[in-house]
Amino acid sequence: MSKITAAITGVGGYVPEYKLTNKILEGMVDTNDDWIVSRTGIKERRILNEEGKGTSHMCEFAVKELLKKTNTDPLSIDLVICATTTPDFIFPPTANLICDMVGTKNAFSYDLQAACSGFLFGISTAAQFIETGKYKKAIVVGADKMSSIINYKDRTTCIIFGDGAGAVLLEADTEGFGIQDSILKTDGSGFPYLHAKAGGSRKPITKENFDDADQYVYQEGAYVYKNAVKNMSEVASQILKDNNLTPNDIDWLVSHQANRRIIEATAERAGIPLEKVLMNIEKYGNTTAATIPLVLWDFENKFKKGDKLLMVAFGGGFTWGAVYLKWAYNNK
Ligand code: UT7
Repeated sequence: MSKITAAITGVGGYVPEYKLTNKILEGMVDTNDDWIVSRTGIKERRILNEEGKGTSHMCEFAVKELLKKTNTDPLSIDLVICATTTPDFIFPPTANLICDMVGTKNAFSYDLQAACSGFLFGISTAAQFIETGKYKKAIVVGADKMSSIINYKDRTTCIIFGDGAGAVLLEADTEGFGIQDSILKTDGSGFPYLHAKAGGSRKPITKENFDDADQYVYQEGAYVYKNAVKNMSEVASQILKDNNLTPNDIDWLVSHQANRRIIEATAERAGIPLEKVLMNIEKYGNTTAATIPLVLWDFENKFKKGDKLLMVAFGGGFTWGAVYLKWAYNNK
């Protein structure tokens, strides 16, 4: 019997309508368009500003689009994983809410929290289920409503993050397309440099500590920056080596979108030419687990069956990783 691989067979996405531009941010904190564009490449980000709507709301749109585009019966889905750091609730998992919203009634589902690397951890995990032969179809959604944990008085973080959701369908494939290999890494000692200090079980938010603003993202940007470039370029080179590939063999580098300079430096260190590097950071900023599927969503038309994609991510935790896959379809 031929080996079963997990192939991406469709992409869906959603970004909220409201655009938080650099100009608007100039009126909120001491910053300016020139600084933001030159240091990060970001021009605007999308913000989900509808009262009472959480991450699942964006996932609902992304997954419904995915099911429609791929003409997939929701009842045929076996598994739904939602990679997110901003779940609707502490429990139940956002993935369960999504299943109810989109009608994937036969799927089991759970959330996966690996910060900005969540989508890569999610597709690698879903692939394991598919490769057993027992599960045929999985949906992995990477989604974050970062605006719910950002302090809009902190210029070092509020200019970076945005909201969005991207989803892929993974299906069993016996022709060799799909996920070929992955390297996933964590280093918990990176915790102090990128985290939210309050809102979890160690420091619940109370009336007394609310004004400390510890419920928001805290980041030591320069340290995270260096580690992002070093670790993403290392796993990128490692996965190429493990699969007997050279940088020239790769058709597209799909990186986590945290900072244009980080993406370019990673590509350069891994030897991937810039014309193969896909970016949409200028439109959405850093949407955490949603960045990679939103790149797939925006650039789906560029991919041809058999194209070799290298995906890399780095984020809080620290978490990082690389996935090498062969694209499975020509866009209809
Ligand atoms: O997705 C998860 C992983 N996250 C990342 O990968 C993000 C990694 N870090 C970064 O992308 C960058 O470090 C930042 C974009 C966060 C910051 O850029 P940087 O080039 O590392 O700047 P910096 O933190 O070294 O700050 C340089 C200067 C400082 O002023 P002084 O000390 O040189 O006078 C900052 O206070 O820029 C100042 N600054 C700002 N100025 C205008 C910091 N934020 C701003 C701002 N507008 N928004």
